[in-house]
Order: sequence, then C-alpha cells, then structure tokens
Amino acid sequence: MAVNRFVLNGISYHGHGAIQEIPGLIKARGYKKAFVASDPDLVKFGVTKKVTDLLEQNDIPYTLYSDIKPNPTIENIQNGVAAYKASGADMMITIGGGSSMDTGKGIGIIINNPEFADVRSLEGVAPTTRRTVFTIAVPTTGGTGAESTINYVVTDVEKKRKFVCVDPNDIPDIAVVDPDMMSSMPRGLTASTGMDALTHAIEGYTTAAAWELSDVLNLEAIKLIGANLRKAVENDPDGREGMALAQYVTAMAYSNVGLGIAHSMAHTLGAVYDTPHGVACAMMLPIVMEFNAPNTGEKFKAIAEALGVDTAGMDQAAYRKAAIDAVRQLSVDVGIPTRLEKLKEEDLPFLCESAAADACAPGNPRPASLEDFEAMFRKLM
Ligand SMILES: NC(=O)c1ccc[n+]([C@@H]2O[C@H](COP(=O)([O-])OP(=O)(O)OC[C@H]3O[C@@H](n4cnc5c(N)ncnc54)[C@H](O)[C@@H]3O)[C@@H](O)[C@H]2O)c1
Ligand SMILES: [Fe+2]
Repeated sequence: MAVNRFVLNGISYHGHGAIQEIPGLIKARGYKKAFVASDPDLVKFGVTKKVTDLLEQNDIPYTLYSDIKPNPTIENIQNGVAAYKASGADMMITIGGGSSMDTGKGIGIIINNPEFADVRSLEGVAPTTRRTVFTIAVPTTGGTGAESTINYVVTDVEKKRKFVCVDPNDIPDIAVVDPDMMSSMPRGLTASTGMDALTHAIEGYTTAAAWELSDVLNLEAIKLIGANLRKAVENDPDGREGMALAQYVTAMAYSNVGLGIAHSMAHTLGAVYDTPHGVACAMMLPIVMEFNAPNTGEKFKAIAEALGVDTAGMDQAAYRKAAIDAVRQLSVDVGIPTRLEKLKEEDLPFLCESAAADACAPGNPRPASLEDFEAMFRKLM
C-alpha cells in the first residue's frame, strides 16, 4: 500500500448541547479574548448568539467579525485580518456554514503567515510554515464539514473565479458539531447543504486517491445521508443529528483524499452566478455520476446499497443506473431544481475553462475534456 496521510481535528465534540463545552475549552488553555467570525444573517437570526451568550456568561471577552458573504471573497478575508489585528484577540471561534468557517481559516492563516496577505498566493497547496491561530469551529449548516477539512474556498471577484486552498495548517484545533446550531436552517438550505455533503461522500468515495480508511467513512456517510436527509428537511431532531454526523464523517475523509469535477463545476457556477454551493453541487452530482460511471469499478454498487437499493441480481449497468437514480430521487424529494436558468450560452467557454483548471478536477476518476464539461453544463440548460 502506498503511504497515505490523514489529517484530523485534535478534538471534536458531537451531539445536542455540545456548544456548552466551548467556554471551558477556552479557559483551560488560558486564552484571554476570542475573535468570533460569523456571517450577518446568523447574527441577525440569533444563531451566533447561542455561542456568544455562553462567552458572556463565562466572562470571556470577544470581538464579533461579520463582514462575510456566502461564497466569501478575498476582501472578506483581508478585512478580517485587519479586524483580528485590531481586536487584541488570541484565539478564534468560527460560527457558520462553509463561508464563515472558510473566512476564519483564511484570516487565521494570514495572521500567522503574513507573507500570504494577498490571499491569492494561498491557492492550491499553500506552502505556509506556521499553524493558523487556535481555532474552535462551530458549523451551522450540515454541510460543508469545513470544521474538519484542510481546505477553504475563496472567491476572486475580479477574476470571477473561486479557488481552493489546501493546507493542513488551517484545520481547526477543535470542532464542535452541535445539531441544535443547525435547527434554524430553512428547508431549502437544509436540502442543499445536505446534498453538498452527499456530493463530498460520493466524490470522495470514487476519487482517484480514495483508499480503505476514506472509503469506510464515505460509505457510512452516504448511508447516514440516505437515512436522514429527508427527515432533516422536515426539521426532525434525529434527522438533524444524523446529518450533523454525516457531514462531519465524510469531511474527515474527503478532506484527505480530494473530490472530483462535480465540485470543479460547482465552484465556477458559484463564482460566476453566485449559485449557493450546495445547490450547484446537487445539480451537478447525478450528471457527473453518469459521466464517471465507466471508471468506477464496483463502487456504484456499494453506493446504491448504501442508499437502500437491493442490488441482488443486478448487472453492472443496472446497479450503476440504480445508484444514479437513487441520488436523483433524493435530490427531487428534498426539492433541488434540475435547471439553472441563469446559465447562458455565451458563458460556456469560460465556465468550462474554469472548471478544467479547478483544484478538484485532477482527482476525478475519469478525465474530462473541455467538450465533456460543456456537454455536462448543457444538461442544466
Ligand atoms: N472548506 C471546505 O472544505 C469547504 C467544503 C465545501 C464547501 N465549502 C465552501 O463553503 C461555502 C458554502 O457554505 P455553506 O453551504 O455551509 O453555506 P454558507 O456558509 O454560504 O451559508 C449560506 C447561508 O445560510 C445561512 N445559514 C447558515 N446556517 C444557518 C442556520 N443554522 N440557520 C439559518 N441560516 C443559516 C447563512 O447565514 C448564509 O446566508 C462555499 O463557499 C463553498 O465553496 C468549503
Ligand atoms: Fe462542497
């Protein structure tokens, strides 16, 4: 077996009420002031407050930074670096979906590696030499799993592209995965972020660098999502708990092995049309599965079974189709659209070039040409 690296959080907490642990974790380490990164809607809806109330009750001072938009930008990170420096904080708490947690990752990395202050130079495998500032990450979507990944994704508004930064120095020290932080998610957001998690699990299971350890985690995540996403969309507490766990379990795995072109294509749709990441992933996933099927051996059989299909007596063509159909059905059941009205003919060349250059593309089990990307994008029109 080749040598495989696996990077994980130092500690993680899971379950209803897990955020109660946060003040003790800060005090035990002697930190004096927290920098809280969380987006404006979460502040407005009182989600961020669930954690900052605990800080106040425990006399832990904090500065709140909320200049963070969905599909966060270079500017969101640079303004955050300035705010962190001005705050006098000595640790960070990121509260939110991928956008807040990724902005926090970029800020923490630049605070301790100031030679990357331009942000763009962090693209790809970033050669930083120092860990990010001590970070506790609290996800509120279920979700990107950014609390346990070595990646963050940044939008370059000027160049109309999203880029992925891969850096073990950015993984949060502690993840606090509390399903109660996700209970305020509206239906559509629960559905789309849950389908993002399914895209991580399926792309991570079929990606070129997948191996036994990542496979165990990704298959379990697919099972958990098949069993819980519909319930989570109905705001059922068990469904929420199942999705909170599933999105974390696949993140442990995909963070270490990579993804594929559903993500490459979703990143460019996010950059060009500001399509929410989960919606873009969910729309691309079955289309990319159809394209990848010939290069996946027996893996689609395991995916179909994890999604509850009885594959007894099915030949390869049948179980591959069954896996794709099960993903499509789940997507329809939770209300994901299958067309992207904004997608315009004249944008296709840029979208294809951008998807082909994305950091997730090399991991795809089947190489895709520009023509292949175009054919797949056209299926959304
Ligand atoms: N770092 C990684 O490993 C990784 C992986 C996948 C995706 N991403 C990136 O993460 C971003 C997407 O993150 P996301 O899908 O979690 O969404 P998000 O962070 O962009 O949030 C989307 C919206 O949902 C709202 N929201 C979040 N939680 C809520 C809650 N509990 N109740 C009510 N509203 C809530 C937010 O306020 C925001 O308006 C994209 O930029 C994507 O590229 C990062
Ligand atoms: Fe994703």
